[in-house]
Amino acid sequence: MRKYLIAGNWKMNTTAEEAMEISSKIKAAFPYDYNKIAILLCPPFTSIHSVSGIIQGTSIALGGQNCYYEPKGAFTGEISINMLGHLGCSHIIVGHSERRKYFHENDDIINKKAIAVLSGNLKPIICIGETLEERQEGKTFDILQTQLEQCLKNISTDNSEKITIAYEPVWAIGTGLAATPAQIAEAHHFIRQKLIEIFPVHGQQILIQYGGSVDSSNCKSILGIENVGGALVGGASLKPDVFIDIIKSAEFYVGV
Ligand code: 13P
Repeated sequence: MRKYLIAGNWKMNTTAEEAMEISSKIKAAFPYDYNKIAILLCPPFTSIHSVSGIIQGTSIALGGQNCYYEPKGAFTGEISINMLGHLGCSHIIVGHSERRKYFHENDDIINKKAIAVLSGNLKPIICIGETLEERQEGKTFDILQTQLEQCLKNISTDNSEKITIAYEPVWAIGTGLAATPAQIAEAHHFIRQKLIEIFPVHGQQILIQYGGSVDSSNCKSILGIENVGGALVGGASLKPDVFIDIIKSAEFYVGV
């Protein structure tokens, strides 16, 4: 049976009140014992507590969009993994391309974060993906290989079960122009082969999400592609009806 994780990355959007409104609508669409598709909401830090109150008792999970790798101390403005765990988060997104682009995070920092998230008993969603320029120069697979090797350095076989990879081609994020099914299939196949090389025991099972302009018009075809284990949804996850459609479209493939 195929497994999916559909995650909403709300980025820097929603006040606590808005976040409660969105999460209430999502919760209303799924019975308390819903377990066909794993659902994850990643609100901004300031809304996590409020969303947690709304989804309490459901199977909807909570995640952070970022974290710092040090456990505590004089790091003004940063958020620790333990803080997110105590708010009820099970996952943390690390290495999103917006973190790489605007906040100068590199593979080394992302690797430290991924290892720290695992040490804190949370699950990292590690983002990788090429820019348009890199794709046009024919460097897509070199970039994916380097990002995977560097970001997954020193992660133990035991912990490899807990990671998710999100393939997010940078040029498809927020553009309304998702990668084509052929491009997604090719990239996910490549990532799968690398994961098996790096983690011979669990590499075949690691979820690989696709992210980049996923919406209600393309989700069904994207989620049907081999090696696609879910979606990391940005803009469309702020629209409850669309996000619910995306989750329900995955049900088709788990034989519901
Ligand atoms: P969009 O779905 O808005 O393209 O964003 C994708 C993304 O960056 C999810 O992390």
